[in-house]
Amino acid sequence: MNILVIGSGGREHALAYAASQSKHCDQLYCAPGNGGMEEIAICLPLDASNHQAVLDFCADKDIGFVIIGPEAPLVEGLADTLRANNIKCFGPSAKAAQLEGSKGFTKDLCAKYDIPTAAYGRFTSADDAKAFIAEKGAPIVIKADGLAAGKGVIIAQTIDEANSAVDEMFDGLFGEAGAEVVVEEFLEGEEASFFALTDGTNIVPLISAQDHKRVGDNDTGPNTGGMGAYSPAPVMTDEMIQRTIKEILEPTVKGMAAEGTPYSGVLYAGLMITTKGPELIEYNARFGDPECQVLMMRLKSDLIDAMLAIENGTLADHTPEWHDNVVLTIVMASKGYPGSYSKNTAIHNIDAANAMDHVKVFHAGTKKDGDQILATGGRVLNVTASGSTVAEAQKRAYDAVHKISWDNGFYRTDIGWRAVEREKQ
Ligand code: AMP
Ligand code: GLY
Repeated sequence: MNILVIGSGGREHALAYAASQSKHCDQLYCAPGNGGMEEIAICLPLDASNHQAVLDFCADKDIGFVIIGPEAPLVEGLADTLRANNIKCFGPSAKAAQLEGSKGFTKDLCAKYDIPTAAYGRFTSADDAKAFIAEKGAPIVIKADGLAAGKGVIIAQTIDEANSAVDEMFDGLFGEAGAEVVVEEFLEGEEASFFALTDGTNIVPLISAQDHKRVGDNDTGPNTGGMGAYSPAPVMTDEMIQRTIKEILEPTVKGMAAEGTPYSGVLYAGLMITTKGPELIEYNARFGDPECQVLMMRLKSDLIDAMLAIENGTLADHTPEWHDNVVLTIVMASKGYPGSYSKNTAIHNIDAANAMDHVKVFHAGTKKDGDQILATGGRVLNVTASGSTVAEAQKRAYDAVHKISWDNGFYRTDIGWRAVEREKQ
């Protein structure tokens, strides 16, 4: 069948790459896609928020399955529209996507179903939020309720900082997303991401990954969408994985079904591994970016088999298979990111990196211009490599990065540092 991937990031290139290898895939389409996806798919412009346009596209191209990569179209109900028109797709309904779309919704679900997470309050008035902050003390975390492109979280070290964050959010720093604010306790520990597929009843655990959110080496500077990742995350021991499934994922899936909003798709649990065990920081209703890139390179079985199993009600019989290695990805970003940056700068020698054994370069914000690849976004390339150890995957990935020449690009030089340190012990 023909498959359509919606999105244009590194995550979507990785999903498209896995889909292109599926036995189910005849012609692959990506909308809008990027310079890398063009190599494996027909890329066409399409406004995912125009549901009629997506339906027309699917009819015109005889699309049998749609993979929705990013969160915004999920929260806007694209999966509902597709399913209502008998088009199979991957991703939750708009109501279920509230797990990502509203932090307050998720916190209330956690409270109701006893899912471990930071203590919290939900506020629509600055005075009430500040009273809560005064009671709890600092450090404390202030979050815009809605989608804010990963930027709506402020970790305040002092009460003054927390109060200013509250004022900024109610003054519209994150637009509508900040009309409600969640204030929560600061959790200490090591972060990890864990992924699972679910059809609303059954849960198929995938694997763990760790992301590097800060822009600078040694985890300094502002938060970004993610500057690199690796899988597996050593902090996710078998015990932590079992506890995450039992204490977090199972009650979530049961709770969502009980609330009349069963969740289907991938559940991405952002976790803090604290001295008490795993606690939920947040849910995302989609794969992580760049975590998806390392997951797809470790996936041995057919991605579309897994996604169809969700749609066909056969997920209980599906067991994905993984390469038993470490995969690490380094994000190359435009200088200035996560702030403003120049566009349409030329990148050279991506082919030399891609030609290395055990290396794959996924594109994010790129476009093809004749024979050239131009950078069009903040995060631009995901240079991804596998190895038998984190140190080996890391060295290979950096060797590949060094082959690429891009004057306007930068990258962190320490992706995987925690895991490399652990390997030395
Ligand atoms: P989120 O967008 O909710 O994932 O938050 C972005 C980042 O803020 C997370 O990856 C954490 O590093 C940090 N964070 C969010 N909530 C908390 C919390 N309650 N305690 C400590 N750090 C947090
Ligand atoms: N890498 C973090 C995210 O996808 O939300």
